[in-house]
Amino acid sequence: MRDAMRDAMRHITLFTLATVALALSACTGDAPTSPAASDSPTVTPTTDAVTVVSANGTQAAMVGVPFTYDATKAGTVFSDPRKSGLTYSVSFTPAVTGMTAANGYITGTASTPGVYTVTITARDNSGSSASHSFAIVVFAGDLTAPTLAATALLYSDASSPLPRHFAQAAPNAGSPIGADNTPASNITTNAGATLGRVLFYDRRLSVNDRVSCSSCHQQQFAFSDTARLSRGFAGGATNRHSMGLANARFYANARFFWDERAASLEAQVLQPIQDGTEMGMTLPNMLSKLSATTYYPALFSAAFGSAEITSDRVGLALSQFVRSLVSVNSKFDRSFGANGAPNFAATFTAQELAGQDLFNGRAGCARCHGTNAHISDNTHNTGLDATITDVGAGNGRFKAPSLRNIAVRPPYMHDGRFQTLEQVIAFYDSGVQNNPGLDPRLRTPGGPPLRLVLSAAERTSLVTFLRTLTDSTFLTDVRFSNPFGR
Ligand code: HEC
Ligand code: HEC
Repeated sequence: MRDAMRDAMRHITLFTLATVALALSACTGDAPTSPAASDSPTVTPTTDAVTVVSANGTQAAMVGVPFTYDATKAGTVFSDPRKSGLTYSVSFTPAVTGMTAANGYITGTASTPGVYTVTITARDNSGSSASHSFAIVVFAGDLTAPTLAATALLYSDASSPLPRHFAQAAPNAGSPIGADNTPASNITTNAGATLGRVLFYDRRLSVNDRVSCSSCHQQQFAFSDTARLSRGFAGGATNRHSMGLANARFYANARFFWDERAASLEAQVLQPIQDGTEMGMTLPNMLSKLSATTYYPALFSAAFGSAEITSDRVGLALSQFVRSLVSVNSKFDRSFGANGAPNFAATFTAQELAGQDLFNGRAGCARCHGTNAHISDNTHNTGLDATITDVGAGNGRFKAPSLRNIAVRPPYMHDGRFQTLEQVIAFYDSGVQNNPGLDPRLRTPGGPPLRLVLSAAERTSLVTFLRTLTDSTFLTDVRFSNPFGR
């Protein structure tokens, strides 16, 4: 758009010059006082015009802390070829409560975090003027800088390899490695995931510095939230329940959100930032804010080889961190030997074994919550309601996150309707509702919804099995923890 404007301007300029040239050639003959010559406009030589010579960069301020800034940079921002002295005017978009400007000096104490565009205009006594805009980022007063442990944080496959029951199909057919949605264009590296981790926990990614990704995706709850609906930057509720993020890397369809509306993880992670309820930000303002910090340039350099901060890179790094959230150290996982073969009989109680048998067998759970990551194979309509109110991916279909750590992250389902695993099992046992989109796996062929007719002991054993998927090392792993300390 701007290029088109510039092109148009260039054409106009060329046209004007051509006209002047014609006029000049017309008066080179024997008519020394031709009207064209005497009327020729006093073209202001560009060397006399006020111009921007040294633009202001993005400035950082803090709520409650007095701020002064000379937006003329001691008179060096604009040229003053006529040496007539410049007068300055400054405007703010939107207005910054608590800040004013006089003679190009900005002073005051801002009361609201945000990104403010400042336009400064300089004018000389002939009326020639120039202006330019820059951002002042006002950060909330209670933010800290991240402290990353000096010890290496290992996220990449090379430095922290997956155990065999995840990494290799043989001898266990349950390996999810074939479902790995890591694109070749965004392989996880330690530096990339480290940057992603800082971004994930940084409240600066929200418009008022109140929420980070981790507000709704909390490590202790396997990166989900205990609230049925989470609260965004201004207290508004999300439309659906927050999703646990462990093992999101192993969802084969590689689409994200309950309804799969994001076509990739790289696309998904930028959406909460711009969501009007969740973080309320624009990507340009996010970039202004990140560039106004002291710590991001070095993190971007380490991750991408240069300090340039772009939305693309933010998306890549956040995705790398989310994909690094691999949970492989539950009791279930510890039942696999170093060669990748399981020996559940040696590690599970009789009740856990019974529950696992039901999960893989008669109760049919593993048909949808498959692989050793217990992640859904696709979207399904599970018959939560007879009448569908949220169509999800269409016809009431939703994906399910990995069931790893399911016991520590109630409530359950896309709308958080169930508070306990017992309620979830009771639902699958006897509560599946008939509706036109109901998944065939949950109905008798062409007929009514399945009734599992589980005994109380069987229902309990299923819950007991689900508890073997709790990975407490994942829930406390410092690699995934808050680098801002709070
Ligand atoms: C205000 C709460 C909130 C914030 C902040 C938030 N999320 Fe979420 N997140 C949710 C909810 C709710 C969903 C499910 C929404 C849906 O499916 O409609 C979700 C879904 C996701 C998913 C999809 C998981 C899957 O398996 O499909 C990912 C990934 C994710 N969020 C990452 C992030 C990242 C990265 C950030 C920060 C940039 C973030 N979220 C910020 C609430 C939040
Ligand atoms: C037809 C496929 C299918 C079958 C069979 C199935 N599930 Fe699910 N499960 C899903 C889907 C899809 C969801 C997400 C549904 C939603 O939120 O609307 C889900 C959700 C869940 C959740 C909640 C996940 C969360 O993050 O909130 C649990 C727990 C669960 N299932 C356990 C089981 C158990 C135990 C069984 C066997 C008794 C089972 N499922 C059978 C597809 C299935």
